[in-house]
Formats: sequence, C-alpha cells, structure tokens
Amino acid sequence: MADYDLIIIGGGPGGYNGAIRAGQLGLKVACVEMRETLGGTCLNVGCIPSKSLLHASEMFDLANKDFAGLGIEVTPKLNLPTMMKQKTDSVGQLTKGIEFLFKKNKVDWLKGAGRLAGPGKVEVIAADGSKAILEAKSIIIASGSRPSPLPGVAVDQQRIVDSTGALALPEVPGSMIVIGAGVIGLELGSVWRRLGAKVTVVEFLDRITPGLDQETAKTLQRSLTRQGMAFKLSAKVTGATARPDGVDLTVEPVAGGASETLSADYVLLAIGRQPVTDHLGLETVGIVPDKRGFIETDHFATSAPGVYAVGDVTHGLMLAHKAEDEAVACVEIITGRAGHVNYDVIPNVIYTFPEVACVGKTEEELKAEGVAYKVGKFAFTANSRAKVNHEAEGFVKVLADAATDRILGVHMIGPDVSEMIGEYCVAMEFSAASEDVARTCHPHPTRSEALRQAAMGVEGWTMQS
Ligand code: FAD
Ligand code: NAI
Repeated sequence: MADYDLIIIGGGPGGYNGAIRAGQLGLKVACVEMRETLGGTCLNVGCIPSKSLLHASEMFDLANKDFAGLGIEVTPKLNLPTMMKQKTDSVGQLTKGIEFLFKKNKVDWLKGAGRLAGPGKVEVIAADGSKAILEAKSIIIASGSRPSPLPGVAVDQQRIVDSTGALALPEVPGSMIVIGAGVIGLELGSVWRRLGAKVTVVEFLDRITPGLDQETAKTLQRSLTRQGMAFKLSAKVTGATARPDGVDLTVEPVAGGASETLSADYVLLAIGRQPVTDHLGLETVGIVPDKRGFIETDHFATSAPGVYAVGDVTHGLMLAHKAEDEAVACVEIITGRAGHVNYDVIPNVIYTFPEVACVGKTEEELKAEGVAYKVGKFAFTANSRAKVNHEAEGFVKVLADAATDRILGVHMIGPDVSEMIGEYCVAMEFSAASEDVARTCHPHPTRSEALRQAAMGVEGWTMQS
C-alpha cells in the first residue's frame, strides 16, 4: 500500500493549488515544502510582497504629486519600517491561509526537502537532517524557479540584490541601477523610484519588456521615463564591484565600443529566472532536464511514468496563475478527469503605473503568423471616468480575426487594467467575436467602457469621447 495517492514537491502556486484540488477530489495527498511557510516564491518573495510595496509606494507617490491637483494638500512622510511591516503582515496572513486550506482539505505538509528516490518514492529530508522515504502512486514536481545569475555580478543581498533583496532594502537608495528591463526590474524599480531613488535601468536588448506588444511597450517606456526612470538600452553589464556604500558597474554597448563605469548605492539584478531542478533526484527515475534546466512534459506528464511537472519548472510563462491552472488540470487528469489549460488565454500583467495587461497574440505575432487581423483601439483620454479621475493615460487595443471577428489578442495600458483584463479572458474562453463585447452593455461612467469602445473600434463605430 502506498503512503499517499499523490505527493507534490513544492508548496508554491503550482504545489499548493494542486494539493488542495487533490484533497477536494478525495486523494490522500501530501505536499513537501522546505521553506518555513507555504506559498512558494509567489506568496513569500514574489507576487504578494511586490504588489504590497507597489500599492504602498503608489499611494505615497500619488500623495506627493497628484493629490494637490484634486484640491488635497498634504506633505507625506515616508515611514519605511511601517511600509515593510504591513507587507510582511500581509504575506504572513496569506501563507497562514494556505496552511488553513491544507488542514481543511486534509493535505499533509511534509516539512523538508523532497527528492525522488526511484519510481513511486519520495525522500523527505527535514531541517534536522532526519530522512523518511514515502511511497506515492503519483508524484508532481512543482519546485518552481529562482533568479538567474549573471557572471561577474555576484548577488550579496547587501548592495547587489536580486528580487528578494529588493523587497526588503533597509533604506531608500539614493540611486539604484536595475539590470534587466523585464517585469521584475520595472515593478521593483518603480517601487524605489516612487520612494525617492534615482533609478536607471540597463537592458541588453533595444527595447523593454521583450515579448510584450511593441506599441504597448513603447508607451510604457515613455510613461516611466516621464516619471523619472532612466533607460540605457542595448547595453551589456560586464562586471560589478560592491563597495560598503555602493556598487560600480562596468557597462558596454552590445554593438561594441568603449565600456563605461556606472555607480549606484544599490544594484538590482533581474535578468530572468531559471527552473529549480537540482537535488530533485530526477536521475533516479530517468528524467533528463533540457539544456536550460526545464522539465519537459506532455500534458504535464514527464518521461517517467507516474511523475508529472507543473509551473515554473516547466516551459512557458513563469506566472502564478499558469502554475495554478496547470496543477489543477494535472490533478484532474491524474484522477481520470478532463483537465485542460488554454495556453492562448493566459493573461499577463505588469503592475507598474500605468499598469499593462494583455492576453492572447501580439500584433507582431499575428504578422509573423500571416494572420489577417483588424485593430480596435480606444484611448483613456476619451473615457469620462479616467478623465475625472485625472488618470487618462494609456489605451485598450483589441485584435480580431479579419475574417471571423474572433478576438485574438487584447493589450491594455492604463490605471487598474489588471482588474479589467479578466473580462476579455472570459470573452476569449467563449471564443467571442469583438462584436460580442461591443454589443455588451457596460456601466457608465467606468473605465471598463474603454474595453467596449475598443471592441466597437474593430468595426469602426467607437462613440464615446
Ligand atoms: P514557486 O512559487 O517557485 O514554488 C516552488 C516551491 O518549491 C518553493 O517554495 C520552494 O521552496 C519549493 N521547493 C523547491 N525545491 C524543493 C524541494 N526539493 N523540496 C521541497 N520544496 C522545494 N507571477 C504572477 O503571476 N503575478 C505576479 O504579480 C508575479 N510577481 C512576481 C514578483 C516577483 C518578485 C517574482 C520573483 C515572481 C513573481 N511572479 C508573479 C512569478 C510567480 O511567483 C511564479 O510564477 C510562481 O510562484 C510559480 O509557482 P510555482 O509553484 O511553479 O513555483
Ligand atoms: P524577464 O524575463 O521579464 O526580464 C528580464 C530582462 O532582462 C529582459 O528584458 C532581458 O532582455 C534582460 N536581460 C537578460 N540578460 C541581460 C543582461 N545580461 N543584461 C541586461 N539585461 C538583460 O525576467 P524578470 O524581470 O527577472 O522576471 C522573471 C519572471 O518572473 C518573468 O518571467 C515573469 O513572468 C515573472 N514575474 C511576473 C510578474 C508579473 O506577472 N507581474 C512580476 C515579476 C516577475
């Protein structure tokens, strides 16, 4: 008799959602997690603490710069320890919440490091060194990811930090250099810029946020530049020297040319993340990760019978909701159900100000695929709610198939668009045409009307101004 129907290695969004779903479906399930708290990268050092600081720093920035225009005169004073404490408190409540859900759904949390120990076996090594081998009918690997290193730039979490260090700086830097104009660099760079740091972002490519719709990326870069963030594109960091009070970085143009030295109080290294597949005992079941360390899967199944993998450790977007959906679908498949993830409808959000939210294909992708498409676009300057809120930056862009009108992609930039992209996700799940959204009544005055107006724009009958 196996000890468990299912053991999941990793307690992040992939692991904990999979474990809870398994509990709901009546499986005897355990989740192995070596951190002191559940929730993985996302809850402990990712999505949640970063959004906490983004919210708090945005409030500070608004109070500093924008309240006066509304007739509210204040002089805000930053209390960084309190800002950090409310972040830590929120994280603590949410990680405890997962513990509660484990108990409610009869999931055993096996505290320690898990590794495969041959077919159907997982070894759990506790913090005190004690070991136990448990048998399971199925195993899901959800070991997640960690920051990618950059040779010559040694993260010490003092002056040269990764995202985890940047979420807990002891002071507002006078200056900060961010290496990598991706999601982490722009979000955490925004936090510290709003709190007073002079932020410079050094990016290898000639654009920010690779993969994002070009027009949206350019609009975001313009906006962040206006806010005071500086960008150094097409630039390569070749080395970093940390001093007690700062860092010297050597940077050279990607195209070649003279290198220069940039100095700052802190450096944030954010050039991507890599899968965690070492020390997992993959060799004991014959799984060989690919060149970049990812575990290859087919409908979540690895090459080893009974062993599955989900989330950041597998290919695709490194997003919490992608990990969650994969884990739930994987457990449903294990229990003989029709688990499914629609990879065409996974939203992607950047929580800067303005926010970026998108789902589906970009214009560049459609062009590369030779798909004929129509564009409907609506600017928030023409949206009454955005206007009265003094938040009229950005637009909504809908891309629809030229022949069938089916929505293929949606790209938004503007305040709170993260809360609005879900409407288009539902529409796309139901294979909606842009006309379906265009003919759906939306409340007035709301920013959500811009979503409808953009859809109306596909057939050229946008009305609102
Ligand atoms: P993880 O969350 O990384 O969880 C894996 C867990 O497995 C970890 O807790 C680890 O300790 C554990 N583990 C690993 N190996 C073992 C082992 N051998 N034994 C026991 N335990 C093990 N995504 C979003 O969708 N929205 C956001 O706003 C967002 N913001 C982010 C901000 C930051 C700063 C960062 C770094 C990431 C952010 N992400 C965001 C990405 C998101 O955190 C990840 O995509 C998500 O956490 C992946 O979930 P996962 O379960 O695959 O892995
Ligand atoms: P990223 O892949 O988003 O961006 C990394 C950037 O660094 C890219 O622009 C890349 O061109 C650049 N780069 C790579 N090597 C470089 C070098 N040597 N010098 C200069 N620039 C270099 O990775 P990031 O920002 O580290 O985020 C990792 C993952 O975490 C992302 O895949 C993202 O999905 C996830 N995440 C999601 C968030 C969200 O959903 N809001 C928030 C934060 C992270």
